[in-house]
Amino acid sequence: MSIDAGITRRALAPFVAGAAIAGAAACSPQIATEPVSRRFPKDFLWGVATSAFQIEGACDAGGRGPSIWDVFAGDPSHIADHSDASLATDSYRRCEDDVALIADAGLKAYRFSISWPRVLPEGAGAVNEEGLDYYSRLVDALLEKRIAPYATLFHWDLPEALYEVGGWGARDTAMRLADYAGLIGNRLGDRIKNFIILNEAAVHTIVGHVIGRHAPGIRGAKLLGPATHHQNLGQGLSIKALRAVRSDCRIGTTMALMPSRPEGSSWHVMNDLPAYAFESIWNGAYLDPLFRGGYPLVMLPFVDGLIKDGDMTIARQPIDFLGVNYYSPTYIKFDRTNPAYVGPGLPPEGVPLDAFGREIDPKGLSEVLARLRDDYGNPEIIVTENGCSDGLGTGPARLDDRFRIAYLTHHLEAVKAAMDKGSPVRGFFAWTLVDNWEWDEGYMAKFGLVSMDRKTGLRLPKASYHWLKELAHTGVLKPF
Ligand code: GCO
Repeated sequence: MSIDAGITRRALAPFVAGAAIAGAAACSPQIATEPVSRRFPKDFLWGVATSAFQIEGACDAGGRGPSIWDVFAGDPSHIADHSDASLATDSYRRCEDDVALIADAGLKAYRFSISWPRVLPEGAGAVNEEGLDYYSRLVDALLEKRIAPYATLFHWDLPEALYEVGGWGARDTAMRLADYAGLIGNRLGDRIKNFIILNEAAVHTIVGHVIGRHAPGIRGAKLLGPATHHQNLGQGLSIKALRAVRSDCRIGTTMALMPSRPEGSSWHVMNDLPAYAFESIWNGAYLDPLFRGGYPLVMLPFVDGLIKDGDMTIARQPIDFLGVNYYSPTYIKFDRTNPAYVGPGLPPEGVPLDAFGREIDPKGLSEVLARLRDDYGNPEIIVTENGCSDGLGTGPARLDDRFRIAYLTHHLEAVKAAMDKGSPVRGFFAWTLVDNWEWDEGYMAKFGLVSMDRKTGLRLPKASYHWLKELAHTGVLKPF
């Protein structure tokens, strides 16, 4: 069975590229549901999120080892603008500038990721003290400004050395992740009190290991099961390892949750089954092991033979919060040309689209939150990413980014309405602080609340930065 048909949030883009720019400019999503009140609780956590490979640059500095993303981006044909991330937002050298921006906005939390190969250049074994020291300084700078560090341990930048011995295809990688988690807990857990183990394992599996548009660039369905199961196992082992060294940390993990909808109206019944299958492969394959200790039926043939005794008990760990990243729903259709009959579909005609050609639909976030409430035990939630990009391109950033304020406002309305209905959502991290290096799109996408001149490093806040600052201060979401 193969599902390498390009079914991802990003891969939908080429199908609707023409409409995308207009959609991003108009960016007028419908309101999900009107919240009862527009006032968020006093202790609601307002923050921004970033990831190491997208911001740090300095890939060869300070003893860092290579990651699979260095190798992947080393081939310019893999990246839309043929760039690499050697500069990014230069945050390895300018992290004080980032901290100052977060502090000036009055945000109380910063989600960043730790680069595994900066800390363990070979993925395991010898520790690079200089790398650890960078994060130690970042954490101190945050704490000095009373900003809570939320550290993601794995945001897709697997050490190349581990990839060479099998990567996520190998069970051993799960153990290495847990060793690394224990190390970070030991060395930084005195000050980092909130950990996120994985970022969007579904994206890493499908886009990196099945479709090959992300590192490590593998195509075909062979690694669908192994990459899924070994990340789930590694996540469980890491939660245990962190808890063993620190009893006072809050531990969560972040998933890219996305409703999978059949293309077309109810007449197109043949699209229902592929959409259901994709739902299981994208969402259920990670939610079910963590909350139920099993895989959805559709996943069983893929993980057959990989599950050893006790694995699912390890994968099902209690967590303190679930990180939810939400951007859009996806549309799926029956596709005769694909051996699995699962193909990427189109959103309904006329809906607003983001720069990636994805539907802007805050109701999708309402659906995700309702599902977590009704089917997965209503865990504590932090929205760890939500945001939108300028239209794809190399032009300057739009500083008067009202479209982004509209997008964020409407998604926050969905969050607040869900809270009114009993979802324990404790915080919201906007993606992202500064326009950064967006994976296979390079610098073509701009998700930042702040723009950056890559020649001078100068950071210039956009309208959305000032908007979030006011929101964090008042706690009241103004209608857009
Ligand atoms: C993801 C990642 C981020 C992206 C963001 C915008 O969701 O893909 O967590 O690294 O940059 O989502 O696409």
